[in-house]
Amino acid sequence: MTENSSEAMTPEAHLAEVLAAYDNSPNPRLAEITKALIRHLHEFVAEVGLTREEWFAGIEVLTRTGQMCDDQRQEFILLSDTIGVSMLVEMINHVAAEGSTEPTVFGPFHVEGAPHRVIGESIITDSMDDDREVTFAGRVLGLDSNPIEGATLDVWETASNGFYDVQDGSQTPMNMRGIFTTGSDGAYEIKGIRPVPYQIPGDGPAGDLLFENGRHNWRPGHMHFVVAAADHKTVITHLFDAASDYLDSDAVFGVRDSLVVDMSGDRCDYDFVLEAVSAN
Ligand code: BEZ
Ligand code: FE
Repeated sequence: MTENSSEAMTPEAHLAEVLAAYDNSPNPRLAEITKALIRHLHEFVAEVGLTREEWFAGIEVLTRTGQMCDDQRQEFILLSDTIGVSMLVEMINHVAAEGSTEPTVFGPFHVEGAPHRVIGESIITDSMDDDREVTFAGRVLGLDSNPIEGATLDVWETASNGFYDVQDGSQTPMNMRGIFTTGSDGAYEIKGIRPVPYQIPGDGPAGDLLFENGRHNWRPGHMHFVVAAADHKTVITHLFDAASDYLDSDAVFGVRDSLVVDMSGDRCDYDFVLEAVSAN
């Protein structure tokens, strides 16, 4: 007992006591993350003067978020996307070297095992999309401008109704998906459709948070790409239609100027540039 022991506890002293409880963690990285999270959460609660009712409403949002998750739906990722955290993680984990293609969000609609297709093949397997056909073409290059042979481009986009195959029972599975492999010239060519803007799922807590804050759930039209090559950093990215609505208000903050391209003709040309992984 010290002379001060009868003084009322302050929020600062309370935070110090909580942080100290994690000082002996056997896992230094876990302790660093846990303590930073605690510090920021305490500061947040104090800053906004969180009421008991608001704290409980927050618990309910997280509870409903978990309850909405299953093997088809990941509401926590959607929540992370719509508050810009997914994009921040991408930015700090993939620091694009000057001249290399910028990354953007992965999103929840990638499917493993898309069909391998030959250069020039169409990813459209359902005929409703024929009238918006665009050929996406270009090369995969190193930072030295040399073509990369054997690079893979795993691509996916929605059908013209704004839904991915996995969201829409009327589409053939793997419609609008494919994996393309470059030849010795590094070139790729993909027949797809001019992408449409679409709404990310808005029927859960992530949507509630958007709508109740006066935001919308639209994304500008885009084609997804995962571009990978041996001895190079994989880039997870999109190409956005320069004429699309919502480029300035993407629900998940994924737009980057360098990824906005002209898709108004029958051909969209874009070269992907990958950074080599230094051999250590
Ligand atoms: C997407 O582009 O597929 C996407 C990204 C973030 C949230 C929802 C969808
Ligand atoms: Fe998408």
